[in-house]
Amino acid sequence: KTIYVLNGPNLNLLGLRDPATYGTQTLADIESTCQQVADELGLELVFRQSNHEGELVDWIHEAGAQVADDTSVGVVLNAGAYTHTSVALADAISGAFVPTIEVHISNVHAREAFRHHSYLSPVAAGVIVGLGSYGYELGMQALAHRAEQ
Ligand code: DQA
Repeated sequence: KTIYVLNGPNLNLLGLRDPATYGTQTLADIESTCQQVADELGLELVFRQSNHEGELVDWIHEAGAQVADDTSVGVVLNAGAYTHTSVALADAISGAFVPTIEVHISNVHAREAFRHHSYLSPVAAGVIVGLGSYGYELGMQALAHRAEQ
């Protein structure tokens, strides 16, 4: 089965972008850790990043189709700033019935007020914030565990 790890806007800049907030790991570093975790879990990793909202919507639908035919366990999603703006992503998650773990590297609740609200949290299976890139690993473990229930 597949496990999707989807990343939204500006996450391609990880490592360069505000390392005090987001750490020094690059997205490629996170991908290689996720690959190790997927191997341990016996899952096939689909790891992607896009700066385009509609592309993320398409990928959530793709994952949803695989969940429906029992070939995927779901999506770990760091939607970046679209978390705070996107009804379309929330509708994709609920419309495609995709188990989704929302992940944020930084503790969004300790930051600007506009980062405190998430359109995704009400439709997410769970939310992990503020644990750095380790949150991706935890999200993957949670989806694998959920699929075994
Ligand atoms: C983020 C938090 C968002 O508020 C921000 O827009 C990001 C990254 C995080 O991982 O901490 O792009 O999702």
